[in-house]
Amino acid sequence: MSDSHSLLGLADRYYVPVYRPRRIVLDHGRGARVWDRDGREYVDFGAGIAVNALGHAHPALIDALTTQSAKLWHTSNVFVSEPPLRLAEALVEASGFAERVFLCNSGAEANEAAIKLARRWATAQGREPSRRTILTFEGSFHGRTLTTVTATAQPKYQEGFEPLPPGFRYAKFNDVDGARAAMAAGDVCAVLVEPVQGEGGVMPAAPEFLAALRELCDTHGALLMFDEIQCGMGRTGKLFAWQDYGVKPDVVSLAKALGSGFPIGAMLAGSRAAETLQFGAHGTTFGGNPLAAAVALAALSELSSETVLGNVAKQAQVIRDALAALDRELGLFAEVRGRGLMIGAQLRPEFAGRAAEILDRCVDHGLLLLQAGPDVLRFVPALNISDADIADGLRRLGDALRDFVAQPKP
Ligand SMILES: Cc1ncc(COP(=O)(O)O)c(C=O)c1O
Repeated sequence: MSDSHSLLGLADRYYVPVYRPRRIVLDHGRGARVWDRDGREYVDFGAGIAVNALGHAHPALIDALTTQSAKLWHTSNVFVSEPPLRLAEALVEASGFAERVFLCNSGAEANEAAIKLARRWATAQGREPSRRTILTFEGSFHGRTLTTVTATAQPKYQEGFEPLPPGFRYAKFNDVDGARAAMAAGDVCAVLVEPVQGEGGVMPAAPEFLAALRELCDTHGALLMFDEIQCGMGRTGKLFAWQDYGVKPDVVSLAKALGSGFPIGAMLAGSRAAETLQFGAHGTTFGGNPLAAAVALAALSELSSETVLGNVAKQAQVIRDALAALDRELGLFAEVRGRGLMIGAQLRPEFAGRAAEILDRCVDHGLLLLQAGPDVLRFVPALNISDADIADGLRRLGDALRDFVAQPKP
């Protein structure tokens, strides 16, 4: 058996070096615990970047995957099979707004489908290309394909990839007047927004902001599209984040927790846009793969349960109380924000830029944690995480933070 050191050497040698993974090799997991190659145990507060919403090795997901794997793996979209049909049906029923679903393989692809749908929708109304602009917001993250990275209004993801596709405009997040001004010319055909921004620092939309976007979209004949790839599927304590806001979208993109660890994405379209993309307009070889769909269907049933959704609110409060206590002790956080089990702890200015160091200390103490930018610690554990795992993870966090504050600044 290769040791961790030589395996990490393979990553250094063979991967296109776009990632800088922490220097451990994860081997197996169960619930909210993961073990590395050297047998060290970690509490997982990152869940594979908000993906493993039911933890690791959930029995219902293993059962769905193994049962389907013995039957049929792939059909392409030239033929249908039952799991993706049932998944589409379940998503429409659960959504309360959608009429049709396009299944794909990742978040970027779900947003790409939404963007293409918006452009075709505008085209069908006879709008010329200059009036098919898509409005997105500073601090957003919508994916890494050339078009979704253009929708992502953060220069650090775009620099050097120019020329970027045209037809995008950016406005300030949570600024109603800014959005109104950006739409005043009547050339915006769709607004794409995360109800809770993830990568941009865990920033919840203000309720009046989402409500104003709905109104502006209605006034200007634009589609309101919610990117719920990170904040959806129960993470905020409701199956869809928008349900907390009471603002209905026309289109929603999903991925991450949808497959709870198996790659799958989906674009859901409501009545205004469900008939826009017709035969031949879009497609993907793997989207709606029976294996992925079988897992996602099992995940959706678990994630819709009151037990899981109730646990989100309960554990979110425990994390927030612990962060408040740690802040009283150590003076680390300027703000703790988020919704449900999507929590961001913004470091005080004197610790700005040091989130990555804290994550290293967390690994030392047996805790997997994420950052959202250089100044924010991000807590996105499994939604079914137990009291004991939360308590243990928070104890490890406390030890890591005490270590961090005690060490001299590099
Ligand atoms: C809100 C949001 N949209 C889109 C994406 C892109 O998803 P993927 O990495 O599956 O392409 C992410 C990934 O972090 C995300 O958080």
